Amino acid sequence: MKALLCTAFGPLEQLTVQEVAAPRPGPHQVLIDIKAAALNFPDALMVQGLYQVKPPLPFVPGAEFAGIVAEVGAEVRNCKVGDQVIAYGLGGFAEQAVADATRIMLLPQGMDFDSGAGFVLTYCTSLHGLRDCGRLQAGETLLVLGAAGGVGVAAIEIGKALGARVIAAASSEAKLALCKQLGADAVINYASENLRERIDDITGKQGVDVVYDPVGGAYTEPAIRSLAWGGRLLVVGFAAGDIPKIAINHLLLKERSLIGVYWGESVKHHPRQHLDNVKQLLEWFAAGKVTPHISERVPLVGATAAMARLAGRQVMGKVIVLPQA
Ligand SMILES: NC(=O)c1ccc[n+]([C@@H]2O[C@H](COP(=O)([O-])OP(=O)(O)OC[C@H]3O[C@@H](n4cnc5c(N)ncnc54)[C@H](OP(=O)(O)O)[C@@H]3O)[C@@H](O)[C@H]2O)c1
Repeated sequence: MKALLCTAFGPLEQLTVQEVAAPRPGPHQVLIDIKAAALNFPDALMVQGLYQVKPPLPFVPGAEFAGIVAEVGAEVRNCKVGDQVIAYGLGGFAEQAVADATRIMLLPQGMDFDSGAGFVLTYCTSLHGLRDCGRLQAGETLLVLGAAGGVGVAAIEIGKALGARVIAAASSEAKLALCKQLGADAVINYASENLRERIDDITGKQGVDVVYDPVGGAYTEPAIRSLAWGGRLLVVGFAAGDIPKIAINHLLLKERSLIGVYWGESVKHHPRQHLDNVKQLLEWFAAGKVTPHISERVPLVGATAAMARLAGRQVMGKVIVLPQA
């Protein structure tokens, strides 16, 4: 089968499409013919050796995908050959991948493979962050940084579904137009406008209740200083590269909190909560409240260039890789 292979941690250009042996499912695993896989920022970090998880080399990146079950391990009870499924794990940028049976779900009615591939990581991260970690309440004000990116788009839609007023911040007018189209109540171009001043304008100096921060860098401190009494900043990621150092007096002054969000690990600690979140997301999908925004579809040979565009801030929503195209 064809696969995008990482043989050494390093620059994205060292990734190559190669012919490799198809993986074999273990007793608790499923082999999937992949119809679509989604790119995520952690893919770019992982192949460079910059992510918290470093798989043994060589490996095939690609953490979420959708396709058809081709083979099931002897102990698998939750699906059968021919089922259309969504899966997360590793190995998605290939014609076939194995996934643990605990990490698959049936493709819901009305969802195509492309949307299925881009559903789990981003939406589960944002719902877990906003509801479980941030305790976002209806009527509260949510600020989303990097709002036109993968988890950012999901945070806008989920924030609206939870009844919050959503302020979306991003770096270009095209990105902000997408945020508005997805339901953001107000937008800030943090590349050309002062983030704190604009938050003051929009909230009448009241500040925001929750900040969803997948960006870090220079935006985190002004966002913390714009938190209202009892406000919470969710530490989701550091797409900007720099991990901010924050003076904690900003927390004391208004009983603010910084809360870490690590969806992949939280699923292991709270599997029941994850299942409840998936159920909620599927209900919202059926009601038209959340839908992956797909901006590009690329064949396997285009995956490296697309990963570079994503890491270079040039992508909106999700990029889908089509391994069989
Ligand atoms: N904690 C978790 O469980 C979890 C789960 C999934 C992802 N994440 C993390 O969340 C972050 C976003 O992931 P994603 O897949 O949504 O990525 P993405 O689609 O690339 O979105 C990231 C956004 O960050 C902004 N950004 C600001 N400075 C940037 C820079 N120097 N380089 C690249 N982007 C920059 C960009 O928006 P503007 O151009 O508008 O600023 C971009 O749209 C990553 O750090 C990822 O590791 C965390």
